[in-house]
Amino acid sequence: MEAWDDGFLRREFSFSRQDFAFLAALAERRLGLMLSLSKAEMVYSRLARRLRQRRLPDFAAYCRLLQDEGGDEMPHFIHAITTHLTAFFREEHHFTALQAKIFPALEERQGSRRRLRLWCAACSSGEEAYSLAMAVQEYGRFADWDVQILATDVDVEVLAQACAGVYAPERVIGLHPERQRRFFSRRHDGLYQVHRDLASMISFRPGNLLEPGGAGETWDVIFCRNVMIYFSPAQRQRLISQFARVQLPQSYLALGHAETIGTELAQLYGEYGQTLYRRCG
Ligand SMILES: C[S@@+](CC[C@H](N)C(=O)[O-])C[C@H]1O[C@@H](n2cnc3c(N)ncnc32)[C@H](O)[C@@H]1O
Repeated sequence: MEAWDDGFLRREFSFSRQDFAFLAALAERRLGLMLSLSKAEMVYSRLARRLRQRRLPDFAAYCRLLQDEGGDEMPHFIHAITTHLTAFFREEHHFTALQAKIFPALEERQGSRRRLRLWCAACSSGEEAYSLAMAVQEYGRFADWDVQILATDVDVEVLAQACAGVYAPERVIGLHPERQRRFFSRRHDGLYQVHRDLASMISFRPGNLLEPGGAGETWDVIFCRNVMIYFSPAQRQRLISQFARVQLPQSYLALGHAETIGTELAQLYGEYGQTLYRRCG
């Protein structure tokens, strides 16, 4: 990290501590993201492109642009400041657990209702939601059930990629050939398109986990992975408590590899596997 001796990072664009404080406060207020000063370098490099695109002289001008929070720049700020790393069947143990333990348990619990609701919260560019849909189809015994997957993310740009369901070969070729064949078509331009019947299982919608709501549903399975890690401990607890309100007992919650329920909320969720939890009650 370069010196901030006089309170400025001086590079292509000057970036003051005050600018950083403004942007960090905005990211926390709008998204729940905690950005310590050690992230200043990252914030600079992620946003410098926006300054170039908007032909702005410095970060102070960029902050002024964002001051009107309803402004056009906000979606671009959200896209630039959030991390979107994801992959098909990332942290595969959760999908194995779905097919081996969770789906059979839900099949038995739901009985004649034959209804399944899965929520993929913070779905990024869609790979996680499509992996859930593939897991459901591969399981095979929900073919005549009412199955719906809601996939939400605060970043409308990644959500548009998710809706399109079109992926570069390197995103897909790691998948088992049977999965590639069954769920994707290779287009003339070499990209892979998710099959329509898989896509039709999923509703992609904008959604901010600071106001999760849960769309008035109760969710049999929630995947909320690799996003809480960026939140404050208080915000994480609030989010898990909100999940607990939209999940009936014996429903399931999957978190990312570095995330946990924590002892404070152990009365809400019991451990059910690696970063996998079951609603108590
Ligand atoms: C690292 S990706 C995780 C994607 C996927 N869940 C996975 O584990 O592969 C984090 C995602 O969280 C989203 N995100 C960040 N803050 C959010 C918020 N407050 N509400 C909803 N989504 C948020 C980002 O836009 C990004 O797509």
